[in-house]
Amino acid sequence: MSLVEGKVSSQELIGLEDKYGAHNYHPLPVVLSKGEGVYVWDVEGKRYYDFLSAYSAVNQGHCHPKIVKALVDQAQTLALTSRAFYNDVLGHYEKYITSYFGFDKVLPMNTGAEAVETALKLCRKWAYEKKGIAENEAVIVVCDGNFHGRTTTVISFSNDPDARKNYGPYTPGFVSIPYSDLNALEEVLKNKNVAGFLVEPIQGEAGVDVPEEGYLAKAKALCEANNVLFIADEVQTGIARTGKLLAVQHENVQPDILILGKAVSGGMYPVSAVLANDEIMLVIKPGQHGSTFGGNPLAAKVAMAALEVVQEEKLAENAQRLGEIFRREMNRIIEKTELVVNVRGKGLLNAIIVNDTPESSTAWDLCMKLADNGLLAKPTHGNIIRFAPPLVMTEEQLMECVAIIEETIMNFKK
Ligand SMILES: Cc1ncc(COP(=O)(O)O)c(C=O)c1O
Repeated sequence: MSLVEGKVSSQELIGLEDKYGAHNYHPLPVVLSKGEGVYVWDVEGKRYYDFLSAYSAVNQGHCHPKIVKALVDQAQTLALTSRAFYNDVLGHYEKYITSYFGFDKVLPMNTGAEAVETALKLCRKWAYEKKGIAENEAVIVVCDGNFHGRTTTVISFSNDPDARKNYGPYTPGFVSIPYSDLNALEEVLKNKNVAGFLVEPIQGEAGVDVPEEGYLAKAKALCEANNVLFIADEVQTGIARTGKLLAVQHENVQPDILILGKAVSGGMYPVSAVLANDEIMLVIKPGQHGSTFGGNPLAAKVAMAALEVVQEEKLAENAQRLGEIFRREMNRIIEKTELVVNVRGKGLLNAIIVNDTPESSTAWDLCMKLADNGLLAKPTHGNIIRFAPPLVMTEEQLMECVAIIEETIMNFKK
């Protein structure tokens, strides 16, 4: 096999990854080589609907021409300066993104996990320097079933054994409570050392777990009453995915700290951000936090273009409308089959629950059949399949996808 000799098959490419790459993922056996809008193509030229969107990073669709242009133009001009010097794009981006989301300040990072780490550090520093918690005593409350990334601190408060096991010793200072449980939150907030409450407005990785209506607004009110920072991790739910620009906006909540990643750049480039108002953000002084790549001009230009696309193409409205159609159609299918028992979600972040145990291979086998039929999705937590297409999808395309899903489910044999 040689890359210069011509086409390399999917099997050969999978073999390369298997032999030379670490085995920290278990992908569906599909090798993609091209993307455009809601579609991706494999190396054999087969076209699929992408129903994962790189875990909701590609909300604006694959290779969006406006975002590609921003990337290419800026790459040919200036890509990276580090923050040792100013650059002529960052300030514009900072002004743009803060007014876009309604905060005084932004701290730019690259990946979602880094932004979460940044928010945790910011919260702790605020707790010591503003709230007056004694040194090293601050507690941050998190939720069971959380997914906030893969760093050592973040997995310290995960309760997923795969994410956590044998990576200890773990970072202290976190308490986990059941998700969507206001009584548990009220109880834990009696501890005066609580500095922040870190929460996903919908738990994406946990299987698109949507909290009870009113949970976010009431949780925010409880935090406010106890001088505790409400920290929203919108890395997966943000940027129009759930039918609003931010998922917290379904309950009119403005977080104290907002964490964004993924679709901030339309998936074109790793861009993440932490937003907060001055009284919180300014506790971090020069030299106390940073990143070589955070806030580079390439990232800044790409993010501005990606955020413009969200507004220009009314992606939140589209996600809201198509999401309702999608759940209605899934419920119609559920009525005719034993294989799927539930559909849940908001906007175009949805999941179906397959009628089998999390240990069974049914959801995986169903995803393999969906791929055969031209639609890519992946199980999460065994028997749950997340459906999260790019938000640039049309109603006609969505109905074609519904037909693929329906045919696959109705013809599926365990
Ligand atoms: C809610 C949430 N937070 C944080 C992350 C971590 O983002 P990244 O993989 O870019 O580090 C993810 C990734 O899936 C996520 O869904």
